[in-house]
Amino acid sequence: MSQKTWGGRFSGDTDSRVEAFTESISFDRRLYKHDIIASQAHARMLAEVGLLTEGEAEQIVAALNAIGEQIERGEFAYSIKLEDIHTHIERALIERLGDVGRKLHTGRSRNDQVITDVRLWVRDSIDELTARLAALQSSLLDAAERHRDVVLPGYTHMQRAQPVLAAHYFLAYAEKYQRDRERLADCRKRTNVLSLGAAALAGTSLPIDRESVREKLGFDSIAANSLDVSSDRDFLLEFVFDLSLIAVHLSGWAEEWIIWATTEFNFVELPDAFCTGSSIMPHKKNPDVLELIRGKSARVIGDLQQLLVLVKGLPLAYNRDLQEDKTALFDAFDTVSASLELAAALIRETKLRREVIAARLEIGHLDATTLMEFLIGQSVPMRSAHEAVGKLVRLCEERRCRLAELPAEVYEEVRPGLSQGVYKVLGVANALNAFRSAGSTAPAEVEKQIARWRKVLA
Ligand code: ARG
Repeated sequence: MSQKTWGGRFSGDTDSRVEAFTESISFDRRLYKHDIIASQAHARMLAEVGLLTEGEAEQIVAALNAIGEQIERGEFAYSIKLEDIHTHIERALIERLGDVGRKLHTGRSRNDQVITDVRLWVRDSIDELTARLAALQSSLLDAAERHRDVVLPGYTHMQRAQPVLAAHYFLAYAEKYQRDRERLADCRKRTNVLSLGAAALAGTSLPIDRESVREKLGFDSIAANSLDVSSDRDFLLEFVFDLSLIAVHLSGWAEEWIIWATTEFNFVELPDAFCTGSSIMPHKKNPDVLELIRGKSARVIGDLQQLLVLVKGLPLAYNRDLQEDKTALFDAFDTVSASLELAAALIRETKLRREVIAARLEIGHLDATTLMEFLIGQSVPMRSAHEAVGKLVRLCEERRCRLAELPAEVYEEVRPGLSQGVYKVLGVANALNAFRSAGSTAPAEVEKQIARWRKVLA
């Protein structure tokens, strides 16, 4: 007898090259848990509507549990002859239960089955990632508190711009990862929809109860159009987009810290456990983890690209192309999940080099914009103030000094009376304390944000 679930129509065996080419068991086996719980809900529903007896449903549920345990113990045999995880589990069930096992697939197709499994898997993965993002945010918040006293040069165009508190810097990333969490929560809504019951594409003439299955599996609603169900991969694409954006956030930060770890910057001291050496240059300590967080983001973006191209030309309803969705999905998840874990650990264990940062903080006229705002406070029109400070900076460059080191006469020339009070806003410490707008790096604002994040992440 053919091992195939569809063997009836066929007279000969499948070409072994075709089996190797069309199998998905090598990667979809990781759906086994979700395949089992979905089948158990389906079996219980079949009993409720009289398509199985209670006893048959109980036998199926118990046998599926046993199969799950066998898989977990590593004692389950896989074969490409059985194509995918759905066929493997059904075949194992039939081996255990005979005709009772042959009833499980009643009112169901692999088309609605596979996407139900994937929805359950994505739902769990979203919850797992949300926890990972929260852990990363906590490590950022801890770093913000640990470096409360540190002032950093803030950059635009990679040029020194204005001073920022290190706490403000760390919390900037906490905001990005919060939006990532919100995006995942939103994606979860469209993920948490029951596909099962659409059968192959048109529904079924059997009296199934989709509402009962929905409730058993904890889905929020039922997919309304059976034809849409087996072609719909929107939630999955959205999920991989969300993963791509997380990867992009991680990558930008990794790049920043790779630069910070250079001799030229020397802002961070990376823990030895997160670096590797060189096989030829004995002095090297390379930031490989950061480089690979940056590098692996390319894979995730590639996975998203693969999925978009995969679905772009597909007519309704199920097409076998869709089997290729899982490699990209799993790869994107695994990559981002590992990157998040390492990023959190790295942030937790990295120290900013306070003295090095402080020693060079007065370089780069980080107080120039505050000086301009001080002039504006004295009723100088903004554009005039901008020009005046620009000229003062040029003078500083000529004299190789800081704005705070220019003599009072110079300020008096700009505007009589300016030298009084101006030195109270010059210098990085004064400039930083001058900030006041909501959401700024003003120390009081940053303290508010630290307190808010403590509550959010509690
Ligand atoms: N292995 C298939 C997949 O991953 C399962 C669905 C196959 N359906 C079918 N009608 N051949 O997409």
